[in-house]
Amino acid sequence: MDKIIIEGGKRLSGTIPISGAKNAALTLLPCALLTDEPLTLRNLPRLADIDSFQHLMTQFGVSTSIAGTRPGDFGRVMTLEATRLTSTTAPYDLVRKMRASIVVLGPLLARAGEAIVSLPGGCAIGNRPIDFHLKAFEALGATIEVANGYVRAIAPDGGLKGGKITLPFPSVGATENALMAASLAQGDTVIENAAREPEIVDLCGLLCAMGCEISGQGTSRILVHGQNRLHGATYKVMPDRIEAGSFACAAAITGGEVTLQGAASGDMEATLQALRDAGVAVEEVKGGIHVAADGPIREVTVSTAPYPGFPTDMQAQLMALLCKGVGTSVLTETIFENRYMHVPELNRMGANIETSGRTAIVHGVEKLTGAEVMATDLRASMSLVIAGLAAEGETQVHRLYHLDRGYERLEEKFALLGAQVERVGEG
Ligand code: EPZ
Repeated sequence: MDKIIIEGGKRLSGTIPISGAKNAALTLLPCALLTDEPLTLRNLPRLADIDSFQHLMTQFGVSTSIAGTRPGDFGRVMTLEATRLTSTTAPYDLVRKMRASIVVLGPLLARAGEAIVSLPGGCAIGNRPIDFHLKAFEALGATIEVANGYVRAIAPDGGLKGGKITLPFPSVGATENALMAASLAQGDTVIENAAREPEIVDLCGLLCAMGCEISGQGTSRILVHGQNRLHGATYKVMPDRIEAGSFACAAAITGGEVTLQGAASGDMEATLQALRDAGVAVEEVKGGIHVAADGPIREVTVSTAPYPGFPTDMQAQLMALLCKGVGTSVLTETIFENRYMHVPELNRMGANIETSGRTAIVHGVEKLTGAEVMATDLRASMSLVIAGLAAEGETQVHRLYHLDRGYERLEEKFALLGAQVERVGEG
């Protein structure tokens, strides 16, 4: 397993490209299952999760190819072709490695009339059930069986029928599964209390490019007019708003000045507002966002919430920034039940954070000190890197595979900004 060694205290400055969004790519890839024509996705980030998803797709008989890219390029072009499906089963050994695999349920069910997917189980940040997904499929006429650690969804004879789906919570994954299933259902589907995330809008953009008729994307009520078939398309993945927010926090904690090339400020207003409230200068510039911090980081009070609220995927990174602030900040995590695993590790670096249930109180400190720390989940790992950039001395972040799931060539991007960051194999 690799680790990352950071020599803190370097002020970040310069420009980095923002990669394609992991959480958009992971819902665009399974759309290939909805058609027998080629689907080409551009600006795919080079991430472990994307590689895992590509491997998963081959399990169903999907052919995949990656267009030639130069070693220094960020992003990739991948073409997927599901001319005919040879399997509708997503096995345990693949799903357990990447719970996002669950979004193959909808497209397999819609295209082949059946899907058998290993239950994803929980993960470090929470139990993460899929009951909303299953109820959505039942609203389209599917029957659901859960046994032996697998869920089996079967479409009625003649295929899925459009219907009314009301989500108890604006679940991102459930909305994605419902959209892909509804795209090939007969008739119209309404999704009430749908997730409004930009990644949902990106998915609807692709489905429409493939011939589906969708309206209301980005609002809580989405209408889908199902099609008999969808055709192939070429589509560019949206920029990653969480990667952009993460690098903004990294620049700010070092008192730096960074331009995030390709970042879409319209997708990240709550994140940018929190940064401004913390005293960080954030400005939309041509083709990106400019972030500068030359004053103290001020205390803020932020609760995570479904989009357009402050994203839960930015909570750990903002917390790291606030550790070295003045005053006392209050963060509340309302989406996942166990998303404070970065706290004990940040406290080992000299932070002063108390948690009680879903709330974390961050007492700003003058100084953070480098330490050996352990990554536990993707976004917690990034918060440790952010703290390490501003800590005195050396920080070693172990279990780097967590970071590789969501940040494309992280150490190269930090090096472009003048950070002293090195990846080392741990054997
Ligand atoms: C997506 O996860 C993202 N993952 C997560 O990003 C992100 O944190 C989350 O949305 C919220 O924005 C991908 O897009 C691959 P949810 P998802 O369904 O779809 C509960 C990252 O770091 N729930 O919106 O799984 C669930 O337990 C990852 O990039 C049910 O109870 O999130 C959670 O408490 C982490 N039943 C809440 O809803 C269900 O059927 C939100 O989950 C589904 C969800």
